[in-house]
Amino acid sequence: MSAKKSLAVTLRPLESRTDLHAVVLIGQTAFDYPWTEDEYREKLRPWRCPAVVAEMDGKVVAWLIAERGRDNFELWSMAVNEQALRAGVGRQLVEWLKQSAAEAGAATIVLKVRERNLVGQKFFAACGFKAGKVLRNFYPQREDAFVMESAVPGVERRAASSGNCPRIVRFDDDGFID
Ligand SMILES: CC(C)(COP(=O)(O)OP(=O)(O)OC[C@H]1O[C@@H](n2cnc3c(N)ncnc32)[C@H](O)[C@@H]1OP(=O)(O)O)[C@@H](O)C(=O)NCCC(=O)NCCS
Repeated sequence: MSAKKSLAVTLRPLESRTDLHAVVLIGQTAFDYPWTEDEYREKLRPWRCPAVVAEMDGKVVAWLIAERGRDNFELWSMAVNEQALRAGVGRQLVEWLKQSAAEAGAATIVLKVRERNLVGQKFFAACGFKAGKVLRNFYPQREDAFVMESAVPGVERRAASSGNCPRIVRFDDDGFID
């Protein structure tokens, strides 16, 4: 049996206002409670924030935003646009994050997923994440969060090193550099 083919996308850092607008648009269709542009900016402001977009034919079709913690990476959010769903793009983004975490020496990636987001839970399970504790009424809508965690291949559990963080969102004083 032949292996399933993934959609060919180019992964590159999220780094411009144009990228941010694409992220907001995809988020609006992907989530029941999408972040506003200001909320994304707030999340992206710390320099420690690894964020990536997937491009196809020059168009952003998916994105992933994470945070680099002291001894792990936290996957904050990700989404794939409707036309590119179920074609292996999400998996490629998670692989990018695992690779980035490995380069930074982070042994685990953690995330929270909404109780009602069954597709998200199945997707993360397929990407090697295991369900952990439940945070009751974590979201403002009083919905529970499931914490999921994945080991980073090749990295032993220890504090992340200070070097080799993957690249990162660039800012000027007002926000993104275009
Ligand atoms: C979750 C999400 C990012 C997955 O992206 P994707 O590119 O469609 O996922 P992939 O094609 O890489 O799927 C990898 C595996 O995950 C599982 N999976 C993905 N979508 C699934 C679905 N709708 N139902 C069941 N399993 C699914 C499958 O095991 C799949 O492998 P397979 O296609 O070989 O069976 C996408 O559905 C999305 O953007 N959802 C809305 C936003 C969201 O929930 N984000 C996650 C929480 S922040």
